[in-house]
Amino acid sequence: MCGIVGYVGERNVTPLLLESLEKLEYRGYDSAGIALVSVKGIKIQKTRGRIADLRKIVEDSGESECTVGIGHTRWATHGEPSDVNSHPHLSRSGRVAVVHNGIIENYIELRAFLSTHGYSFSTETDSEVVSELIDFCYAGDPVAAVRKAELQLKGSYALGIIFADFPEQIIATRKDSPLIIGVGENENFIASDIPAILKYTRDVFRLDERELAILSKKRVAVFNELGERVDHAIEHIEWDATAAEKGGYPHFMIKEIMEQPEAISKTIAPRIDAEGNILLGFKSISDDDLKNIDSIRITACGSAYHVGVVAKHLLKNWLNIPVSAELASEFRYDDPIVNERTLVIVVSQSGETLDTLYALREAKNKGARTISIVNVVASSIANESEEVLYTWAGPEISVATTKAYSTQLVLIELLGIRMAQLRGRMDDEQGKALVSAIKSIPTGIEEILKDVQTVQYVASLYFNSQSVFFLGRNIDYALSLEASLKLKEISYIHSEAYAAGELKHGTISLIEEGTLVIALCTYRPLLDKMISNIKEVKARGAKVIAIINNDDVQTGTVADHIIRIPACEQIAVPSLTIVPLQLFAYYIASLKGCDIDKPRNLAKSVTVE
Ligand code: AGP
Repeated sequence: MCGIVGYVGERNVTPLLLESLEKLEYRGYDSAGIALVSVKGIKIQKTRGRIADLRKIVEDSGESECTVGIGHTRWATHGEPSDVNSHPHLSRSGRVAVVHNGIIENYIELRAFLSTHGYSFSTETDSEVVSELIDFCYAGDPVAAVRKAELQLKGSYALGIIFADFPEQIIATRKDSPLIIGVGENENFIASDIPAILKYTRDVFRLDERELAILSKKRVAVFNELGERVDHAIEHIEWDATAAEKGGYPHFMIKEIMEQPEAISKTIAPRIDAEGNILLGFKSISDDDLKNIDSIRITACGSAYHVGVVAKHLLKNWLNIPVSAELASEFRYDDPIVNERTLVIVVSQSGETLDTLYALREAKNKGARTISIVNVVASSIANESEEVLYTWAGPEISVATTKAYSTQLVLIELLGIRMAQLRGRMDDEQGKALVSAIKSIPTGIEEILKDVQTVQYVASLYFNSQSVFFLGRNIDYALSLEASLKLKEISYIHSEAYAAGELKHGTISLIEEGTLVIALCTYRPLLDKMISNIKEVKARGAKVIAIINNDDVQTGTVADHIIRIPACEQIAVPSLTIVPLQLFAYYIASLKGCDIDKPRNLAKSVTVE
């Protein structure tokens, strides 16, 4: 997720672009840049680092008196954060500059095609291809050039485009990535999100899918993909700037919970081809290497570790080899027995968690093959692992992870399926059926997010609880670990995740009248056991909220409250089950008035031991 801005009007555009980009730094902040256009041509200024670093470069160079320009703050997906990989990208001809938010899935083929026509590339990014492709298509008509280029683009994009030959206009178009048009007096704006332009105008409309807008200072003309003129109703934004950064949500956490369908879609789409085959894109670990693996160790911290505990059940069954999930802070001091046939999978949102980084190094020192699953491009763990699979969840601002957890889970599932296919443990049809079910996860989560009332209601009944137990078996136990952590870290209510079969071996002594128990009952093979466990705790006075499958008609007869997940394939169950539990923690913490996005004592990335 990146931040785009653009302005055409009568103001000095440079300070406006810089200030607007600062409002979008929550969308991405590893590099930034601006492009100004005037009768003298296009001028680019860009750098790795924050907007403040860009501001210094601009000020040191002496501001240009321009009134039209585009800007970008980057969250790297393809190509590590660097000056050259920053946006805007200017075509070699100097005729076209582009800022891009999204992922161009076929950029490698497009680079090859353009290279045969004399184009060369200086970055590792997918976005540079867009500027050169538009240049290639340009024959004097900017709109025709953009439309022609779009026909070749696969993936997601929101584009701000300026042409040296047309210094008084900006062209904007989008597919799958958001783009806002801001309407002012003798000035108009484009932006990825409202906070960027709220200071200048509250009158906006959202560009619809595949629409193209031509902005001059006097007017905005919008056309659909058939070339027909389109009119949009103007929306007047009442939010304040802070609310706008959160998309109107009260907290980043709930915004990021709501973003999970999109985050999962963006993470899996580029890794599944039209035939349903999984594309890992590894350069060092070959298919034969993956076939040769005889054990897997998944190591991480916190929620990332909880992804590993879910994944170990799945990968063990699919691959029929030993798979373990271990806390990185334990793994690294446990003198782990690993070798060149061991695959160590390292999971980390930030890619900078020191315990996890040291665990990775320990594994590498002992000869293990290493794959990391990371959300931050070019982070330490990504750079030091032999292969990296990036989640494309975008920046996750809330300390309590949600969308990163969910994207990590689907990505490790795709890795497991691919390995099973390579090892002959899963035939083509089985693999594609699982992939198809994984692709349906965003829809299932959307269905949950449309109906949060039940979760809000039970949260309202129990937000004063002093302690909570989360019970589950097998994968449901793994999910209860994450559910418990979510509640603890943002509501400060003590809770424990417990293997339901283990409760009777001591801890059931803590169950008393009114104790709240959340029973995860979506792992079908052990549902009868879970129902017995519910009866056990009910007999001792517990109140039980059960998370159940859509077709479960038994559990509701014993639990006090039930929360159903939508009907889905078995592989999708873990991804759907965790969502009401994230919401439960969020609504409880919200009712308690906690500092949800920045809980006490916590940091988003723990870079100390
Ligand atoms: C999760 O909500 C917590 N913020 C924390 O447990 C986190 O998952 C853990 O610190 C690992 O962080 P990482 O994924 O960036 O490595």
